[in-house]
Amino acid sequence: MASRILSGMRPTGKIHIGHMVGAIDNWIELQKKYECFYFVADWHAMTTETDTSGIKQNTVEMVKDWLSAGVNPEKSVIFIQSLVPQHAELHMVLSMLNTLPRLERLPTYKGHLKQVLEITDPKIEPTEEQIDRARSKISYGFVGYPVLMAADILAYRADGVPVGEDQDPHLELAREIADRFNRLYGNVFPIPESLHTITPRILGTDGRKMSKSLGNAIHPTDTLEVMSAGVRKMLTDPQRSRREIGGNPNVCSVYDLHMAYTSEERNLEIHQACNTAQIGCTECKREAAAQMAKKYEGYAERRAVWDGRERQIIEILMEGSRKAREIAGATLQQVREHLLIDYENITA
Ligand code: TRP
Ligand code: SF4
Repeated sequence: MASRILSGMRPTGKIHIGHMVGAIDNWIELQKKYECFYFVADWHAMTTETDTSGIKQNTVEMVKDWLSAGVNPEKSVIFIQSLVPQHAELHMVLSMLNTLPRLERLPTYKGHLKQVLEITDPKIEPTEEQIDRARSKISYGFVGYPVLMAADILAYRADGVPVGEDQDPHLELAREIADRFNRLYGNVFPIPESLHTITPRILGTDGRKMSKSLGNAIHPTDTLEVMSAGVRKMLTDPQRSRREIGGNPNVCSVYDLHMAYTSEERNLEIHQACNTAQIGCTECKREAAAQMAKKYEGYAERRAVWDGRERQIIEILMEGSRKAREIAGATLQQVREHLLIDYENITA
């Protein structure tokens, strides 16, 4: 069973309900039982974007959300990746333990290749020549970012990592790297497991992945009116073309919202009522928006309290980063000992 938890999030600024349901809610649950480390993955942000001008502000805005949602710096260590240089040090060591082709086989990398090539149809595979062209536009740092992620995890010797399912291949890589190190140099790292929530990923108001840049996000700070307008646009069962035919909630993104915000009992009723056409989508959407708004009652006010107190947020992050450096520093000392490059222990 997991005892030390670690997770990170890229500094994207104000967070949306996808982050809440997919990550933050889980972080808060885990912090009740385990020793937790939550960090702002600012170096990760740099792997896809050379413009670094928004990172600092986005970090502060995102952490305002963490704190308002209930991530508690008294219980969990909250920190900034780049303030803990041990992540970079370990990344470098671990980069010797896997091959380039292994990294190029990861689905996130392949997806990014296609993005560079502007291939939107998932069925189309790029040609050799296209791949070569795209590769020449992708940085060394980007290819290695899953190794950095492994270093993030292993620096704390974490054994539980709450992530979305899209990150599972990276966790698998982290396990491989940990095992490789342990076999070559002796046992230092626990083998980390990914921890998932049961709630499915919340899609955006246009049916695509919810994301700030796509403009399809709903925020916990939104008013009921704004939330309702967003939910009204969300995609429902495409087969349910008319109110009179029953629907299938399992293929409906509004039902995913119900799974996240509505009681289990009521969910069963909705499921049934949708199947038998006793509830219409308009009504069902209105209820989902209302449940969501109820969950975030008082949230916007709680968050607004942090406006003008950015300095205090930074202090929390500095203090957390100091604690993180202590833990990660101890791991790195062990790593150097196992690599037999602990020069202070020279004999004869
Ligand atoms: N790669 C993750 C993402 O894009 C963020 C992340 C970086 C992370 N390092 C991590 C998550 C370590 C968990 C553990 O969502
Ligand atoms: Fe989705 Fe609700 Fe419509 Fe069923 S009734 S398809 S669950 S929005």
